[in-house]
Amino acid sequence: MQKKTVEDFLRENGFVTAAELDRQALLVSFISEMEKGLKGEASSLMMIPTFVGVNGKIPEGASAAVLDAGGTNFRGAVVSIPPKISDKQNQPMPGTKGEVGEEEFYGAFAAELKRLEGKATCKKLGWCFSYPAEATENLDAKLVRWTKGIQAPAIVGQYVGKELMKRLGGGEIAIVNDTVATLLAAKATEGDKTYSSYVGFILGTGTNAAYVEKNRNIVKLPGAGQDGSMIINAESGGFNKIDQSAFDKAMDAKSSNAGFQRFEKMIAGAYLGGIGLEIYKAAAKEGLFSKKAADAIAGLGALETMDFDNFCADFKKPGRDNVLDAIFADADDAKMARRLGIPVFERAAVLTAVHLAAFVIKSGEGADPSAPVAINADGSTYYKTRAIPFDATVRRELDEMLVKRRNVHYAITPQVDDAPMVGAAIAAML
Ligand code: BGC
Repeated sequence: MQKKTVEDFLRENGFVTAAELDRQALLVSFISEMEKGLKGEASSLMMIPTFVGVNGKIPEGASAAVLDAGGTNFRGAVVSIPPKISDKQNQPMPGTKGEVGEEEFYGAFAAELKRLEGKATCKKLGWCFSYPAEATENLDAKLVRWTKGIQAPAIVGQYVGKELMKRLGGGEIAIVNDTVATLLAAKATEGDKTYSSYVGFILGTGTNAAYVEKNRNIVKLPGAGQDGSMIINAESGGFNKIDQSAFDKAMDAKSSNAGFQRFEKMIAGAYLGGIGLEIYKAAAKEGLFSKKAADAIAGLGALETMDFDNFCADFKKPGRDNVLDAIFADADDAKMARRLGIPVFERAAVLTAVHLAAFVIKSGEGADPSAPVAINADGSTYYKTRAIPFDATVRRELDEMLVKRRNVHYAITPQVDDAPMVGAAIAAML
């Protein structure tokens, strides 16, 4: 029997490759979901008004104690402006190593803030909280649901700022999403550059974008008035007007929030390894690997994105054994495994670009090349992926979709170190 080609195998499983993705159709449906979300109509994009603008004056010389919770670790530190971080400490995020209750959850953050007590000039605390949460006018955050596999069900539906401050015996805290914080951090460090608008973008364990919207377009919030603008946290990882392949579906079914975060699960670090594993298992059944490799892959329970990526890049990380190097020790198997794996990263890069282009277009700015829309990107998947030149692919796609086709100008700004913490401090100071 003739072996299937990689192309046939991917197509038969509904995997749309980077070359085949319909960028224009996706852009249209992204923007339509944004508009529905802003009107309060049913949409896969939450489009959360944050009540944070981009025009406040940040007091030079001030410092704030901040928390940053959004992945497998959480951090506490003191941030001063111009951005400088001190007293930084990293520890596991509560709920990443088994289920936790309220006391354990808030207790960890309260203890960290106690450690930082008296070390900052600003009385208000800052908290970068990177999960889908509704924002209140006084910058508290009501957790809608967990993403990234956090197991702390008691916290869902709570105002996390209010609950944390109760445990600290009072005080004030400003909570922002990491996309909002990243946007603010880049705005605060732009120097003498001129930008017409801003997009804050994270592609790490999860993904999401925030941008600046005119208040009059936030129809679901009539109180915002006709003038001015504010940052919208889109929760774009929830976008679901896109077809999943059989591999995406199989991986999703095994995740702790099955059915949610469809777009995030196609591009973010928590999931790419899982997609790779499903591809390899299915390919093994199709006879695309040697018997030995097929048997080994059938017995593999999980695949971390870092190992999947390093393997596809043929990069051996010093001090880290990669399970795929052992499974695909045979040169033909390794070649096949890379041909099957690299399309996952290529698809992620093109989808990243489509999604960024949608926000740049929605901002309504960028017509003047001397005042482009700034995109502030942060996150390990964006900057550390090795399998393909991720950033270069995103820029090439943005040039095509925005500059060539629409005459809309963008600039990916230099990365700001510790942007989520810097942005959380700015939110506390404004
Ligand atoms: C969360 C967002 C967050 C993003 C990036 C997603 O899983 O829902 O709130 O901004 O990850 O960290």
